[in-house]
Amino acid sequence: MDASAFEGYYKKTPAERLEILSKQAQLTDAEKSNLQKSGALEIDAANRMIENVYGVYPLPLGLANNFLINGKEYVVPFAVEEPSVVAAASNAAKLARPAGGFTASADPSVMIGQLQILGSKEPEKGLKAILGKKKELIEEINKLDPSSIVKFGGGLKDIEGRVAESSRGKMIIMHALVDCRDSMGANSVNTILEALTPKILELTGGEHRLRIISNLAVHRLARAKAVWKKEALEESTKGEFKGSEVVERILDAYEFAVVDQFRCSTHNKGIMNGIDAVVIACGNDWRAIEAGAHSYAAYKHPYAPLTKYSKNKDGDLVGEIELPLALGMIGGAVRSHPLAPISLKILGVKNTQELSQVIACVGLAQNLAALRALATTGISAGHMKLHGRNIAVMVGAAGDEIDEVAKLISQDKKVNADNAKMRLEELRKKKK
Ligand code: HMG
Repeated sequence: MDASAFEGYYKKTPAERLEILSKQAQLTDAEKSNLQKSGALEIDAANRMIENVYGVYPLPLGLANNFLINGKEYVVPFAVEEPSVVAAASNAAKLARPAGGFTASADPSVMIGQLQILGSKEPEKGLKAILGKKKELIEEINKLDPSSIVKFGGGLKDIEGRVAESSRGKMIIMHALVDCRDSMGANSVNTILEALTPKILELTGGEHRLRIISNLAVHRLARAKAVWKKEALEESTKGEFKGSEVVERILDAYEFAVVDQFRCSTHNKGIMNGIDAVVIACGNDWRAIEAGAHSYAAYKHPYAPLTKYSKNKDGDLVGEIELPLALGMIGGAVRSHPLAPISLKILGVKNTQELSQVIACVGLAQNLAALRALATTGISAGHMKLHGRNIAVMVGAAGDEIDEVAKLISQDKKVNADNAKMRLEELRKKKK
């Protein structure tokens, strides 16, 4: 690779960039042509979204169904590359229906903006001065409305802070609590922080360093709850396990995540399988959601599951989830990606609170589905059955062959490339 070929790459058009890249990476005509198939996200639009664009990376969009949340029916778009995620969420949502589906709630859209102040001679006194003046500061900033959010009912709501010891000396860490309404909030929060800074420095002395939103959005939590009746769980195993046993096994699986960080990481990853998929489909920043979820899992206690399970007096399984969900329905990629507004329309949500409620339910459903499978027949039966199609394609199956090979390797309980290749060859010989 000749690094000099990429000098001034950002000044080129996407077509010119693709030419340069193709030459350097020795891409074939077929590979180049795949990179040019942009679908609904046209290359010019993509080029306005990020830098150095040379193509578009599509993801499958699948619909999870059966979600009954607070008495309302939802179908949920997932953008995800992993097989069995959509099926699993639909399955768990279906199994929750006999007990009435999910109940969910979400906090107002309050985000934390952080301001770091160094070099104050008396940081504790400085912090006291900020807190003593916070009513005036809030009024002043909201009158200025630097992020134009006050007219929508948002704006600066509160100011908090602390003095932290660090190896670089004491620092004041001030939190501006900003109601961002239906936006994710990064721009509003950062603008408000910038407007606040001179007033804060007047009170504290010293210098500011970072002014930035925190993804640990503890004031913007979403919660969901569902009951899975033991009878529904029994039926889901096609009678292989008694319902009460499935409940006990899921409680064992949950407890494993409670006591073991290695398991807990995967437990929470399973939750994020569904959450990220919906967040991406809705054009939101899934890295922010991931950061918030995992830091919340370790907030004020060692890293813990984002879900909780217990058994009610009828012996049914009760599942609950709570996590920060800083989502937006306006601005960012929600506006610039042509598919994001369609996902929101399919969801039929009125505001970000409702969107957060749905996504919290998806996380809970995704977790229950994985735990149910893991604690009974194992993950392979369901996941590998659906993954089989990928393996079939990988070994060259096309058209009808894909489902036929997937079915055969799943029946063989050998969902791997060697077996798929053998089955494909057999199939082709038979058809000759
Ligand atoms: P099954 O019992 O064989 O399915 O489960 P079924 O044929 O009885 O169907 C039950 C329902 O599942 C269906 O109801 C559908 O809602 C749904 P119906 O509509 O028939 O009345 N369903 C499907 N939806 C769409 N497409 C399909 C489909 N098949 C069933 N093809 C299933 C099969 C895969 C659902 C089940 O085995 C399951 O839930 N498995 C869990 C799979 C999973 O969690 N996958 C995530 C990836 S693995 C991972 O990364 C996470 C993990 O590491 C997390 C952790 O460790 O905690 C596991």
